[in-house]
Amino acid sequence: MLGPVILAASRSDRMRRLISAAPVTKQVVDRFIPGEDVDDIVPVVLDLTGQGLELTMDVVGEDITSPAQAAAARDAYLELVDRLKPLELGTRAEMSVKLSMFGQALPSPTTTLFEGPSGPTPTFRGGHELALENVRPVVEAAAEIGTTVTLDAEDHTTLDSMFAIHEELRKDFPQTGCVIQAYLFRTEADARRLAESGSRVRLVKGAYKEPASVAYQDKHEIDRAYVRILRTLMQGEGYPMIGSHDPRLIAIGQELAHQAGRKPDEYEFQMLYGIRTDEHLRLAAEGHRMRVYTAYGTDWYGYFMRRLAEKPANLRFFARSMLTK
Ligand code: FDA
Repeated sequence: MLGPVILAASRSDRMRRLISAAPVTKQVVDRFIPGEDVDDIVPVVLDLTGQGLELTMDVVGEDITSPAQAAAARDAYLELVDRLKPLELGTRAEMSVKLSMFGQALPSPTTTLFEGPSGPTPTFRGGHELALENVRPVVEAAAEIGTTVTLDAEDHTTLDSMFAIHEELRKDFPQTGCVIQAYLFRTEADARRLAESGSRVRLVKGAYKEPASVAYQDKHEIDRAYVRILRTLMQGEGYPMIGSHDPRLIAIGQELAHQAGRKPDEYEFQMLYGIRTDEHLRLAAEGHRMRVYTAYGTDWYGYFMRRLAEKPANLRFFARSMLTK
């Protein structure tokens, strides 16, 4: 019951201000978000890759309110690519992006002044175009250093735009990945469409508060949908990325990969930084590709609240740390 309440709080500005200002929050946040800037994250990249793990990195942020913030998000990712370049890790360190942070959620149309040859001209663009324009240089820069970008899935109202941007980017950068969410009714059809040669698709259960008109609400229904969709991805021609910490789904994923005749480098597991860390190492030691989703940055509120919602015990830990301060 607590999960939906926490997810509702994750969209509340008042709660954002309260929780972000709480004196002990940062200690608890560190478990999931191991740094505030790119200087903090480079040692984490070296540490994880040194242990045989791979990464996908997320500069946290969403719900931005201006094109300038969207451009700043793009620049933060470009800075990350710059810092990854000398490490020569290739696809062992890729990036995950939320298009809302690149401007997708800005009201449409957005008015922007462009400095053309005959002076500033007002041009009208929707958030969708702005997000595509901001994410493209990141995907290009990633390709230049031999790695790639995956588009995260946000709430269901954003997904048509996300898939359209994914399709557009794949024309030039076919390795661009995307995320699909098992809790949505639409996802089985999306998976059939995406299970094609060269596609990279991360399957997750889904982390947003979605209405019963579009999404399964029952945990078991979501798990059953996850297995059906994973079977489609494994039997298809693309590269499935199993994004889950659920021991049952991880075992089923291995079995489905085996049934589909896939070798260990033809799919991968993905888990979040700070969650079931022993399992990351166990899977890697067994010869699986294991990628750790590692978020960093200062705008951690939305990401942190979704982690609390996923496991009510996290909330108790958070509350206890406030009380014992
Ligand atoms: P489940 O929630 O059943 O958890 C299984 C077990 O894992 C729990 O019993 C617990 O032990 C542990 N666990 C899970 N979450 C925990 C937490 N927060 N704290 C402590 N322990 C926890 N969602 C989305 O909507 N869009 C996206 O783009 C992504 N991207 C993404 C990338 C990657 C790599 C992962 C692993 C997950 C996402 N997600 C996501 C989040 C996803 O939708 C989902 O909310 C979480 O993965 C939790 O679901 P599980 O499959 O882990 O199962």
